Amino acid sequence: MGIEFYDKVAKKFGGYGYSASPRHKSEYPAGEPEKVFKKKLLGLSSKNKIAIDIGCADGKFTLSIAPSFQKVYGIDTSKVNLDVAKSHSKDERSKNVEFSLQDASQASFENSFFDLAYCRRGPSYYKEYYRFLKSKGHYLEIGIGEKDTVELKKIFGRGQGFGKWDKSTLDENLKTLQSLGFKVIFAENYHYFEYYPSYEELDLFLQGVPIFEDFDSEKDRGSLQKYVKKFSTDKGIQLSRHRLVMVMQKVG
Ligand SMILES: C[S@@+](CC[C@H](N)C(=O)[O-])C[C@H]1O[C@@H](n2cnc3c(N)ncnc32)[C@H](O)[C@@H]1O
Repeated sequence: MGIEFYDKVAKKFGGYGYSASPRHKSEYPAGEPEKVFKKKLLGLSSKNKIAIDIGCADGKFTLSIAPSFQKVYGIDTSKVNLDVAKSHSKDERSKNVEFSLQDASQASFENSFFDLAYCRRGPSYYKEYYRFLKSKGHYLEIGIGEKDTVELKKIFGRGQGFGKWDKSTLDENLKTLQSLGFKVIFAENYHYFEYYPSYEELDLFLQGVPIFEDFDSEKDRGSLQKYVKKFSTDKGIQLSRHRLVMVMQKVG
């Protein structure tokens, strides 16, 4: 995934997480994955623990959980996002947060440095995360599942993870993590729906997310119109979403 994409989005909307969130309603038949993730994370937090937010973007989430830890490091490869993060971390409450421009595939932290590492829809360099976690340390992730916005991608004929919808991302990730020496504490798929009130709101949403990094409101108008026609319901334009939540522990 291009660094340029996240810089571009942060420039346009003033940060990735801070970006204008298009209006939509959500329906969670089996629980809300973001809430599950945050609950698990806070359940493992402690004022004695040092944590890392991998792919922290503009640091909104990092700053929200920092009071529950001794210290939180946020790393990202997008300078524009980190500048936004730093601009939001000048007050007293965020003095235990440190943001730095780093590639998660080769971070500068020494072995066994962190008690806890987490990643919210960021990169998956699990070998590196295993290296910088302490023994018995936890790794938590909320990631994108293979079925995310599948109908939309089919109509567009492209997109993030295009065509890989029959292979379980959760199973693949767990296999990799276990082979490195992590044990599974919790692992779950979440399928849910979002409903957008109008074509314009869905278009705005697609401008700010990496579903199609090259999304172009003009060039993609035909495909989006086709989607809107097919998936309009009395609740709004339906988008099917898929997230996975994992809690792992480093053994050994
Ligand atoms: C989908 S965004 C999620 C941002 C944030 N965690 C959130 O939940 O809002 C993914 C983030 O991962 C960052 N990223 C991608 N590859 C990275 C890498 N190799 N090292 C560090 N950060 C990376 C991107 O710059 C981007 O900010």
